[in-house]
Amino acid sequence: MASKLFYVPRVGRQVLRQVSAQSRPFSVGPQRFSDSLSVHRNNPTNNPSIPFKFSEQNLKLADEILKRYPPQYKKAAVMPLLDLGQRQHGWTSISVMNEVARMLEIPPMRVYEVATFYTMYNREPVGKYFVQLCTTTPCQLGGCGSDAIVKAITEHLGITPGHTTEDGLFTFIEVECLGACVNAPMVQINDDYYEDLTPESVKSLLTALKDSTAAAGAGTKIPAPGPLTGRDTCENSAGLTNLKNPEEWNPETMMRKDGALDAPAQQ
Ligand code: FES
Repeated sequence: MASKLFYVPRVGRQVLRQVSAQSRPFSVGPQRFSDSLSVHRNNPTNNPSIPFKFSEQNLKLADEILKRYPPQYKKAAVMPLLDLGQRQHGWTSISVMNEVARMLEIPPMRVYEVATFYTMYNREPVGKYFVQLCTTTPCQLGGCGSDAIVKAITEHLGITPGHTTEDGLFTFIEVECLGACVNAPMVQINDDYYEDLTPESVKSLLTALKDSTAAAGAGTKIPAPGPLTGRDTCENSAGLTNLKNPEEWNPETMMRKDGALDAPAQQ
């Protein structure tokens, strides 16, 4: 009986033989497991019994946000409200998510779905300075390359990507393109972009940030966000290389006159 169950008809055997003759072997790379948890597990710092309420000031902001949406679609405010909650609390705990769900009168699961989809919501505590280094291809290839910056940050902070320093000041992660590729390599620290990085400039930036938090660090000069090479934005660092003569681009002399393309009058 068992052999009948596994009987393959003759035509089927021929097809199998042809398929196996044509098939090519394939290989897979080693499995790489993420260390980020995509589900919630209650723990002493992140569980629903820890209360969270928006501050009075943020409640006013939340009202402003809600006014942007028709009342019947107020659930559309889930992302800005989660962002507001994260800014107040420092990260997006389960209590922040539950409070947003309560305000929007939607099932908490709808909020969890959003918060777990977008990596910008930190569901674990992060340091005072959240260092997000772009390691996508243009940043990997631009300037000194992001590999050199990863090494510099790792050496300087003593942590590898995905970790927080013991003093809780810095959390360091690698991220994908942040849209400032033209000034690669770059890093986002909290809300600011620092660009045109070198190992030296990123180290002094981190030192300045750390010094500014010390008791005596009130006057510490933190570099202004943007390119750290003195450029204003993404202009050529070698200065103007063309269109230097105003006559070359003077619209009065360069542009054709009205009617220049008019068809000649018929004879
Ligand atoms: S690749 Fe780094 S900002 Fe785009």
